[in-house]
Amino acid sequence: MTQALTGIQFTGVGKSLPQRVLTNDQLATVVETSDEWIHSRTGIRERRVLGPTENLLDLALAASEQALCQAGLTALDLDLVILATSTPEDLFGSASRVAARLGAVRAVAFDLTAACTGFVFAVGTAAQFLRTGCYRTALVVAADGLTRWLDWQDRNTCVLFGDGAGAMVLEACPVDQLLGLELRSDGRGADMLTLPTTGETVALMADLAVRNQQYAPIYMNGRDVYRFAVREVPVVIEKALHRAQLRSDQVDCYVLHQANQRILDAVAERLQVPPDRFATTLDRYANTSAASVPITLCEGWESGQIRSGSVLVMAGFGAGLTWGALVCRWGRVSP
Ligand code: ACO
Repeated sequence: MTQALTGIQFTGVGKSLPQRVLTNDQLATVVETSDEWIHSRTGIRERRVLGPTENLLDLALAASEQALCQAGLTALDLDLVILATSTPEDLFGSASRVAARLGAVRAVAFDLTAACTGFVFAVGTAAQFLRTGCYRTALVVAADGLTRWLDWQDRNTCVLFGDGAGAMVLEACPVDQLLGLELRSDGRGADMLTLPTTGETVALMADLAVRNQQYAPIYMNGRDVYRFAVREVPVVIEKALHRAQLRSDQVDCYVLHQANQRILDAVAERLQVPPDRFATTLDRYANTSAASVPITLCEGWESGQIRSGSVLVMAGFGAGLTWGALVCRWGRVSP
């Protein structure tokens, strides 16, 4: 008798970053700041930035190809592609272009926006399609180019962000490796962190006016976002661990959204876990929004910090407000 494939396994991860490096010292020539301030407050030393003619979808494609290669699959195996992004190249969505360029001609593809929690929300969404038996193989790719939406004179925000993409392959499997999942949102805190529309009224005719719209640069109340993250992220991780019936000390590696090293350290302290159990790429890549979790996961895999069979917590938090955590066992289940 064949077993029902109602579980999920995590079989591949990939990442791609722009070539150009922008260091804190270089930034200090653009805006009044210093390497000392940025590093001591955030843990960031440098970030990668897309050049004016570079395309975010090239990064999404490269990360996806690496994840598929590691999973031992081709694009033709994919049933589902979800692109987690707040900065698509086209406001109507970019996932179908990524799928087309990959050659994932059988897959249905769509964008999902949940700011810096986008990757965790997208994994949670893909998991539902796999668990119901609707699809067997999914690619979640997260890509953001937030440096394109910054006011480079606003030192409260422009020092924090970088660009990048990360991807992960999920496959249906009889033994479920997604051990716990908790997702949250609260629009009452939406004004803390926004990339809002701005616009002007255009009189089309005497009695009919419309609005012409663009987007304003990112606005963030850093202190309030910091307090929210330190308060809520440990709680959502504990809930996901409770669902997984695991304690915080049974997790091999925590892969959290990379916003601030002080947030990672505070969450580690609240969970009573040594800080070195928390993977970090903040120093080199800064906050790459939805992409930060899979980029950090990929580096953890490449460095050997994460191995096949490792128990992982992935958690995101950010605009919306949105936040969430998942607990999983990494790698392909032996047949
Ligand atoms: N360089 C030098 N000085 C600065 C800079 C800078 N880049 N930025 C702010 N300052 C100054 C401020 O003007 C202020 O000066 P003042 O005391 O004279 O007014 C002083 O430094 C302290 O400013 P704070 O905002 O209190 O600094 P804080 O220690 O809170 O750190 C930070 C700010 C790093 C933004 C922190 O609040 C933080 O990390 N918040 C969370 C951000 C986050 O998690 N975002 C995640 C989501 S992102 C997303 O979803 C897209």
